[in-house]
Amino acid sequence: MNYQERFPVEAGDFASAGEVSATIKQKLKKIGVAQALVRRVAIVSYEAELNMIIHSLGGEMVLELSPREIRIICDDVGPGIPDISLAMQEGYSTAPESIRMMGFGAGMGLPNISKNVDDLKIKSDPSGTRMEMVFFIA
Ligand SMILES: Nc1ncnc2c1ncn2[C@@H]1O[C@H](COP(=O)(O)OP(=O)(O)O)[C@@H](O)[C@H]1O
Ligand SMILES: [Mg+2]
Repeated sequence: MNYQERFPVEAGDFASAGEVSATIKQKLKKIGVAQALVRRVAIVSYEAELNMIIHSLGGEMVLELSPREIRIICDDVGPGIPDISLAMQEGYSTAPESIRMMGFGAGMGLPNISKNVDDLKIKSDPSGTRMEMVFFIA
């Protein structure tokens, strides 16, 4: 790995929701990553960031760059995902009405993450969730 940057993500912070993923997107654009790949990373990091804001008690996102791959790691504090395969299904969401009113909670985040990564690892227990998302650079 040649480069690493860490970004804190605060639970419930809707005022700055999407800022971390926007920063990551700008950074990748600036260093000349292909547009289609930037787009995929932006979708994935936005969904992962929002999930931490909505569903976790907060954590951090880490961007790691090397010549061969882009890696996004999300590490948060509880409550974790009790059934990951259920959570991966399109339309499944535990977001409450108050969150849906803000336009979130369609249950498409994890399915979209899964569609747009080259490799995805999710580890979760009641103390927190760790997602590692890898994109290969052609
Ligand atoms: N970081 C997380 N911590 C705890 N639960 C999560 C986390 N990310 C996702 N989940 C669970 O997985 C479900 C599906 O996530 P997602 O597909 O992004 O849908 P949505 O965010 O719209 O609810 C969420 O409703 C939630 O129950
Ligand atoms: Mg989501």
